[in-house]
Amino acid sequence: MKPLKGLILSGGKGTRLRPITYTSAKQLVPVANKPVLFYGIEALADADIDEIGIIIAPETGAEIRAAAGDGSRFGVSITYIEQHAPLGLAHAVLTAEDFLGDSPFVMYLGDNLLRDGVVELVETFRTQSPDALILLTPVSDPENYGVAELDPDGRVARLVEKPKQPKTNLALVGVYMFTPSIFEAARAIEPSGRGELEITDAIQHLVDKRLRVDPHIVSGWWKDTGQVADMLEANHLILDDLEERVEGELVDSRVDGRVVIERGARLERATVRGPAIIGAGAQLVDAYVGPYTAIGPDVRIERAEVEYSIVLEGSSIEKLDGRIEASLIGRNVAVRRSDGLPRAYRFVAGDNAEIVIL
Ligand code: DAU
Repeated sequence: MKPLKGLILSGGKGTRLRPITYTSAKQLVPVANKPVLFYGIEALADADIDEIGIIIAPETGAEIRAAAGDGSRFGVSITYIEQHAPLGLAHAVLTAEDFLGDSPFVMYLGDNLLRDGVVELVETFRTQSPDALILLTPVSDPENYGVAELDPDGRVARLVEKPKQPKTNLALVGVYMFTPSIFEAARAIEPSGRGELEITDAIQHLVDKRLRVDPHIVSGWWKDTGQVADMLEANHLILDDLEERVEGELVDSRVDGRVVIERGARLERATVRGPAIIGAGAQLVDAYVGPYTAIGPDVRIERAEVEYSIVLEGSSIEKLDGRIEASLIGRNVAVRRSDGLPRAYRFVAGDNAEIVIL
């Protein structure tokens, strides 16, 4: 088999992560202080895939290019491929046809996280040489995914994109391995009800043509970070594997459990209970940071408590009585109690912001 190429899909609109994604691509929202997209690039690099194409949208492409660069820092070469509109995953594959040529390839959705990476899967694909290899995993809400039905021999019988009444709980994970046979399939299908050329339909076309589509059930965890609750859960899962490292400065402060304190961060009378990560240049003063929290670079937390949350770069949280939890706070956001009267809530909240007060 020829060497595999990689194709990461990092276009699309990110509507379900608004307002964060009004100003930033959803694939760049950090999980444990690292953009989701980088986990995908690293997973491909670990599988010795060194030529990677990244699909970008016109609106967010520049930002993705600036973040991932030419790929040298991951030890790979990145080619950016602009998809003029988010017309579906199979449309993205067709957009990348010139880049992919006649190479087999791994397609990786840029908002997906797969705990065990793709090394073994690529090996299976190389040695068994099916026409396509798909990953499946049982989920509790299959109606939100592509859903697979297997026949009694464990072969793929039918694939349906987001069925209202799913026949199984086996969801299609956003990592696929294809041979060039997928191009003809993508050209043969029609747009779905949501107006997209679905990769699920293209794979079904391969099945209909009696090509060999091998299913593989994923055993480690998998997360599609499309929504805020998923981001928080992904953060939880990644932080669970964190290796302790304290490089910042601790003054009268306590760090319990697996915690990363980046260089240049400063804790003063603060407690951090892991798993948690505190970014470079962050300042925690008279503060508590609880488990499963990622505090981004240059964040300031003073006289406040934060737990099970993601706080992005440059934000500040000050003088709160209650604890913030299960929250995703964007870049340069300020949350503070003021001393003035009248005692009232005062917000400057972006479009589609969500503020919950209990
Ligand atoms: O996460 C797994 C699921 O991903 C599968 O179970 C579904 O079968 C598959 O259709 C897909 O569903 P989503 O609705 O979650 O896909 P989404 O629109 O979120 O797009 C996935 C990634 O691909 C995301 O990083 C954006 C990018 N994308 C999306 C579209 C529609 C593109 O680059 N171009 C596109 O045209």
